[in-house]
Amino acid sequence: MNSSRREFLQVSAASAGWLALGACAGSGGGGRPAEGPADFGAKRRLGRTDLWVSPVGFGGAEIGYGEVPQEQVDRLLNQALDRGLDAIDTAECYRESEELIGKAVAHRRDEYLLFTKVGHWPTRDGWSAASIESTIERSLQRLRTDRLDLVHLHSCSQQVLERGEAIEALEKAKAAGKVRYIGYSGDSAAAAYALSTKRFDTLMTSINFADQEAIELLLPACREQGLGVVVKRALANAVWRYDDLPGNDYHQEYWRRMRALDFDFTRPERRSETGPSGPASIALRFALSLPGVHTAVIGTTNPDRFAENQGLLAAGPLPEAEIAAIRQRWAEVAPKDWVGQI
Ligand SMILES: NC(=O)c1ccc[n+]([C@@H]2O[C@H](COP(=O)([O-])OP(=O)(O)OC[C@H]3O[C@@H](n4cnc5c(N)ncnc54)[C@H](OP(=O)(O)O)[C@@H]3O)[C@@H](O)[C@H]2O)c1
Repeated sequence: MNSSRREFLQVSAASAGWLALGACAGSGGGGRPAEGPADFGAKRRLGRTDLWVSPVGFGGAEIGYGEVPQEQVDRLLNQALDRGLDAIDTAECYRESEELIGKAVAHRRDEYLLFTKVGHWPTRDGWSAASIESTIERSLQRLRTDRLDLVHLHSCSQQVLERGEAIEALEKAKAAGKVRYIGYSGDSAAAAYALSTKRFDTLMTSINFADQEAIELLLPACREQGLGVVVKRALANAVWRYDDLPGNDYHQEYWRRMRALDFDFTRPERRSETGPSGPASIALRFALSLPGVHTAVIGTTNPDRFAENQGLLAAGPLPEAEIAAIRQRWAEVAPKDWVGQI
């Protein structure tokens, strides 16, 4: 079979697949399976866990690194919860993010799932059992809660995973009831190794039009193992906003890739489009249409963004032909070293 035919078949399976992967029309844990585009925004079961998540969650990195004032986070998160936000992701190392979230919404704790990550605090090498244990205690305090729904190891190396201590520390926290589910957050070869251990409930990984390695490298194993998949960086940090190489080095690789891939939806004349054919809509619906993907946590400091991004789902899954075109362009342009980005 030639590569373009193979690509097309993978994409066809992809766009049919999200329907079969636990999409649920109701709220909470029940409801009937999704039947069509109108259900694209419905909750999905996060793999074999008993957590049900809407396709758009909140990513807490930006409020931490952006040093956003408490009042703004209060408004952002409470408004989003009022509109159906049900999953909040953060990490122990996103500066004050955990504290901001705890202060803003702990009084509504039953309305959202809480995901955090361990491994970077108090040093950049906090992968010992003692460090992970104390980090989890600190997260519980800062988030003002007695339980974490999901804790990810925060992109540790394969060597750290191989030592086993970090995974065991998470398993212990789960057995103690402090953490309901455990996962690995990371990319490329380290994430593939994490999956091979079969000790995780979920994977958080980068998938977007400029970062497609995970689609073939990681998603098949996630589907086989019934893992929940949380996509990070689904909007590729919205790098279409920049005319020139961005000053933020975290955004530079995606900006360079976007330029090389040259999708029509990221060109300057299209970048301010906010409707179904705009870049945010296409990026988000691309990630969420892939089989095995359950939710995408989108970072923002803007209180109106959740409603905007939730609204993008009304257009339904990205049509097969558009997914195929994005996959095909990647197959043609991406060199081998365009690996998944942490
Ligand atoms: N290693 C890891 O575990 C890891 C790594 C990266 C990220 N994460 C998690 O994943 C989350 C998401 O990743 P991310 O924040 O790096 O990337 P992202 O979600 O792809 O991009 C966030 C950026 O997109 C902008 N944006 C959001 N909605 C938009 C829209 N409709 N139109 C235009 N721009 C829009 C936001 O700006 P505004 O403020 O203007 O809305 C923000 O600057 C993080 O917050 C974090 O929770 C984890």
